[in-house]
Amino acid sequence: MQWVDKYSPSTLSQLVGQEQPSTQIQSYLQSFKRGKALLIWGPTGCGKTSAVYAIANDQNAELIEMNASDLRNKNAINEFLGSVIGQQSLFSQLKIILIDEVDLFSGIYDRGGIQALSKIIETSTFPVICTANNPFDKKLKPLRKISTLVELSQLDHSIIFTTLKNISQKESISLPDPVLKTLARKAGGDLRGAIHDLQTLSSSPDNDPESFLASERRKTETIEQALTKVFKSTSPELYRGAFDLVGENIDTIFLWVDNNLPREYTKNKDRKRAYDALSKADIFRGRIRKQQYYRYYVYIFELLTSGIALAKKERYPGISEYKESMRILRIWQANMKYAKRKIIAEKLANKTHQSQKQAFQQIPLMKIAFQKNKDYAEKITSELNLDKDEADWLNK
Ligand SMILES: Nc1ncnc2c1ncn2[C@@H]1O[C@H](COP(=O)(O)OP(=O)(O)OP(=O)(O)O)[C@@H](O)[C@H]1O
Ligand SMILES: [Mg+2]
Repeated sequence: MQWVDKYSPSTLSQLVGQEQPSTQIQSYLQSFKRGKALLIWGPTGCGKTSAVYAIANDQNAELIEMNASDLRNKNAINEFLGSVIGQQSLFSQLKIILIDEVDLFSGIYDRGGIQALSKIIETSTFPVICTANNPFDKKLKPLRKISTLVELSQLDHSIIFTTLKNISQKESISLPDPVLKTLARKAGGDLRGAIHDLQTLSSSPDNDPESFLASERRKTETIEQALTKVFKSTSPELYRGAFDLVGENIDTIFLWVDNNLPREYTKNKDRKRAYDALSKADIFRGRIRKQQYYRYYVYIFELLTSGIALAKKERYPGISEYKESMRILRIWQANMKYAKRKIIAEKLANKTHQSQKQAFQQIPLMKIAFQKNKDYAEKITSELNLDKDEADWLNK
């Protein structure tokens, strides 16, 4: 049996690291009023789907899951919900309707689909709970308007560690703490991924915790060392995982690769192939940003390592000095600033029911007020659910 299923929380109190959102979910159900859906959002593997199953269990409710084909078009939605709503009687059990990963379905809705869904939510006597990685898709706007949004945050690595430790004890496996800590950190907030890794590691016969320890100790490789492995070698033992031990974030790694690739690869054909890999990696980076689907990192790193290493016919002689490009860095920083402004504008627009464009223009003013008035800053932070980065940005 998969441990992710075996240890999936059966009651909301077992959902780790999500205490505040759990309370919000409970109070949504307690004070449920027709016409208001619940939209639970957050990154992969943080407990969105589990939360709905757990609360249904707590409430002794029947969970009815709608899937993509039920949401195909207006007629299908009406038919599905019509039959569910039609079953209601005075003594019947509470029903909760779950529409999991509503953002993934939005791509295949016909035009009326999401509108029809919203209509149904307005008339359903049962709570409708949707989950999404990215609830800010334009198509979901009608849904957002009539939903209470609850954010589940990325799980902290210490929480993941504690969970892995508990599972290890129950499974009587004795991986040392530092290995569990490495697994927890590697998961990047995805508890599902971490539990999977734990099961794989403990069930493989050549399970080698030592190498995990070693790789953690070597965590401080420089970006230049990693680039040397990728640019100068064609052997998988060298380039594979080249960036794993580098502390820089993914955007910085892209900048370094982009800036040094043409210096190292001087033959046109090599360059073409290398840029091909780099641009594909960039596409996945964009998809992670849009969909928050962190698993794409696997492809990104594969393209950045084997993709680029194997783009060259043969190794270029000599020792290279790799440089960081300041120009690209500046453009990138400017874009990042712009991106923060856009995210905050999106939240503001959402809360105040105005267009994103209008909200975007109000940000400079908001910034001034934010810096001058501490009360205002606190209020805005909690009203718009700003994270620390966003609040810091407004303060700058
Ligand atoms: N907060 C949590 N508490 C306890 N277990 C969790 C939590 N988050 C994830 N898990 C574990 O990971 C598994 C997957 O979680 P879940 O399906 O709820 O993730 P999700 O947020 O819906 O992710 P996705 O966006 O990929 O659908 C669960 O079955 C459970 O074992
Ligand atoms: Mg899910």
